[in-house]
Amino acid sequence: MCGIVGCVLNKKAAPTIIDSIKKLEYRGYDSVGIATVTDKINVKKGSGKIDEVDSKINLKDIDGNIGIAHVRWATHGNPTTENAHPHCDCKNKISVVHNGIIENYKELYQELKNEGHVFKSETDTEVIPHLIEKYMDEGQDLLTATQSTVKRLIGSYALAIISSDEPDKIIGARNESPLIAGISENGNYLASDVPAILSETNQIIYLEDKEIIQVDKNGIKIMDLDLNPIEKEVTTITWDPEMAEKGGFDHFMIKEIYEEPQIIKDTLSEENKIKEIVKRFKNFNRICFVACGTSYHASLIGEYLIESKIGIPTEVILASEFEYFKKTLDDHTLVIFVTQSGETADTIKALKIAKKKSETLAIVNVVGSSITREADHVIYTRAGPEIGVAATKTYISQLICIYLLVAYLDENQELLDKLHSLSGLTEELLTKEKQIQTIAKKYSKAKDFFYIGRGFNYPTALEGALKLKEITYIHGEGYPAGELKHGPLALIDDNIPVVGILPPGPSYNKTYNNLQEIRARGADVIILGANNDTQISDFEDKLLFNPIIDEELAPLLYIIDLQLLAYYISIEKNIDPDKPKNLAKSVTVE
Ligand code: M6R
Repeated sequence: MCGIVGCVLNKKAAPTIIDSIKKLEYRGYDSVGIATVTDKINVKKGSGKIDEVDSKINLKDIDGNIGIAHVRWATHGNPTTENAHPHCDCKNKISVVHNGIIENYKELYQELKNEGHVFKSETDTEVIPHLIEKYMDEGQDLLTATQSTVKRLIGSYALAIISSDEPDKIIGARNESPLIAGISENGNYLASDVPAILSETNQIIYLEDKEIIQVDKNGIKIMDLDLNPIEKEVTTITWDPEMAEKGGFDHFMIKEIYEEPQIIKDTLSEENKIKEIVKRFKNFNRICFVACGTSYHASLIGEYLIESKIGIPTEVILASEFEYFKKTLDDHTLVIFVTQSGETADTIKALKIAKKKSETLAIVNVVGSSITREADHVIYTRAGPEIGVAATKTYISQLICIYLLVAYLDENQELLDKLHSLSGLTEELLTKEKQIQTIAKKYSKAKDFFYIGRGFNYPTALEGALKLKEITYIHGEGYPAGELKHGPLALIDDNIPVVGILPPGPSYNKTYNNLQEIRARGADVIILGANNDTQISDFEDKLLFNPIIDEELAPLLYIIDLQLLAYYISIEKNIDPDKPKNLAKSVTVE
């Protein structure tokens, strides 16, 4: 995930700036850059880790008491030196670092290009220094030119900007991407996150959306978009540096779960890109998903969606099994590879086999990863780097991409509308922490769990069970709700809790009856149901209520309860959920 630092100091700034940006390394990034201002703008940048780039071009060896820096996690354009931030205007008088995505950059790029601006990168960010240049050329100062620029931007941004025409300040702005300021006797700071500057100051001011900030040696001034001053409270941060990296959460996994409501919104905003990719597909009459682990479960939901909505024959194959199925591939099959890391060896091998005969699409989180270079088409999930080994937020973003893909393949406006209505429901999702902690305490000594669901929510059961196994070391088994009576019911007794996924919809009654059968055999049943479900009250206090959505959309929200359940059981068992034993975040061996 991208990170920003800016410092106004009474000494050479580069050493502090680079030490500060290094504090954001844990978030994952692929390139780094710094710009300082003296009588000119001085820039050094490169792709790779900070230490690698530093050893080649000595990032700290750059004059100036005022500067900005950035670590980039590629979104638009590959991780190259040209695409690394900072980006400058034509005259190299303005330098900008940016977190977020400018959605209207193509229109702005065209406008500026027509006016004679020359661009050097493939990024959305580069339109920003050029727009500021345009307004400064018209006579505006840096602050007003930034104001004029941000009023033209659609999308998300946290910005830090310097100019050699006004070498005494940094201007910043925020919309839907975090930006904070720090103040101390030794200097004043801007950053995307607290950990970056916590070793310099614990006096922090949080900016809100649509605010602009000026940082200079006298302090900071925060304004609204009309440049009216805004009074801000200074917060004293009491976290230690390790807690700060996790944004105050105890583990990355829980931090990443708490990011999920925002991820739903961010990934939905990728809609137009998915629409464009769908237009480029050749004719196909069969779809084959290929993936591993959590990505496999997301793919299974894709299968249910495509079969039920579009009626195209679809199958899902585990990547490690793919080579045994390759004979039926042909040029009328679309093969979709789903992978968070884009580096999973089994999935890469399957892609190499599939692309010889079929058109391929990759749904990937990490820009520039191996799979993105091999596939014919790529859809990026916009989850940001995931540090916890257990996939959580990336699963949600994979699902959103798959639902959007199906909606566009099917030209299904109703499904699109339903997806967009989810954004309004997300605030409810993370309100059950205490209740889930109580359930986790009660069942943390269990040796086995069953998770059951039907249709779209059978994969949810599989994913809930995988989360449990991975981070609690308890055996969990996901089953189709109707299948228990064909064998596994023999195992059920009062030592095995059963988690039932029971959203409203056509399969409700059958799953409800299956849960009653299980309860009649002595098992404790934990039910995930809808807020307005009154039928489930006889399952007593082990009920987790969710927003009222139909079973076809439930996988997007109900899984959050199951991620939290696994997380809190791991805490009860004193296991570090971020680093489960025997597992790696990216599995690069077959
Ligand atoms: O990076 P990928 O999505 O290709 O990884 C696939 C699996 O290794 C991964 O989903 C794994 O199952 C997760 N750790 C589960 O939480």
